[in-house]
Amino acid sequence: MQIAIINGPNLNLLGSRETAIYGNVSFEAYFQQLVERFQAHRLHYFQSNIEGELINEIHRVTHYDAIILNAGAYTHTSIAIADALRAVQCKKIIEVHISNVFAREEYRHHSFISPVCTGVISGFGLDSYRLALEAVLLS
Ligand code: DQA
Repeated sequence: MQIAIINGPNLNLLGSRETAIYGNVSFEAYFQQLVERFQAHRLHYFQSNIEGELINEIHRVTHYDAIILNAGAYTHTSIAIADALRAVQCKKIIEVHISNVFAREEYRHHSFISPVCTGVISGFGLDSYRLALEAVLLS
């Protein structure tokens, strides 16, 4: 399978950003572990802090088998990203969060993206991405 992992704003700072919440491992290091673990599949990683670039990437991967998306704070604000997800052919879209957004501030409880996704995984640290991959491969 060809699977896109897309990370939104501030997730380039994983490993140094609010480590009590997001941990001290960079996504690049973690992504290498995923590539090794899921060798039978083609994983592609993209990160941007810019909403339009995330939308362009979602459009670009329209024919991939799955998108695993952590839109960061855009989760709670972006109708444009939700519309992009509605527009693509990709059959499986998993929304991922490192932290449990429901255990945090109320403004993190609403997601514009969840209604457009196959499912949501939130609160398992970086392991949320592995669980999302397992979910994609199970179904
Ligand atoms: C996050 C949760 C969001 O509320 C926050 O804005 C992020 C990261 C997470 O992975 O836990 O940037 O998506």
